[in-house]
Amino acid sequence: MKFFVDTADIKEIAEMNDTGLLDGVTTNPSLIMKSGRDIMEVTKEICDLVEGPVSAEVTATEYADMMKEAAVLAKIADNICIKLPLTMDGLKACKALTSDGHKTNVTLCFSANQALLAAKAGATFVSPFIGRLDDMAVDGMDLIADIRIIYDNYDFKTEILAASIRTVDHVKQAALIGADVVTAPPATLKALVKHPLTDKGLAAFLADWAKTGQSIT
Ligand code: E4P
Repeated sequence: MKFFVDTADIKEIAEMNDTGLLDGVTTNPSLIMKSGRDIMEVTKEICDLVEGPVSAEVTATEYADMMKEAAVLAKIADNICIKLPLTMDGLKACKALTSDGHKTNVTLCFSANQALLAAKAGATFVSPFIGRLDDMAVDGMDLIADIRIIYDNYDFKTEILAASIRTVDHVKQAALIGADVVTAPPATLKALVKHPLTDKGLAAFLADWAKTGQSIT
């Protein structure tokens, strides 16, 4: 499973990237707003920092304007992945951009049929939003499971990018179902390593080790 971090905060991205466990980054207009940075500047910095795909989202809603924005975003770096909303115009732009050799991420996916369309449009990634479905008392994981079955039925190459991740359990469930990628806020990715028994066990080992008076180096 690939790990993407869902933020436009350079400091957080650099910290995650230093672990060697980061495979990419996703941003969206809300995350750019939160960063307080200029989209072109911050996206370029992210692309220079991280080797994997960096999703940058168009803000136009009509095909021709989406294509114009995509052309600008694509020039930022080779690892740009154009993020497009799951609308008919977004799908049309996805098809054109993918055919042109660009990486694409079709976002705001809330149904299996939408994911089917994204795959038919040749999307590199489809982003089903788990947390936002959970917020409406709909189990977001059921959507990931349905998409996995559909994509496997037809051998679609579009990768399932589990998005709107809110908890470490979301990550586990997405991995169990077989999502290809998970994108999560930095805090959630960092929380994956935590277990109280790991901390307790390490403290006990270190206390016993100190009693031996030995040193490895
Ligand atoms: C994914 O690409 C989105 O940026 C993100 O996961 C949305 O998450 P949210 O529902 O927590 O805003």
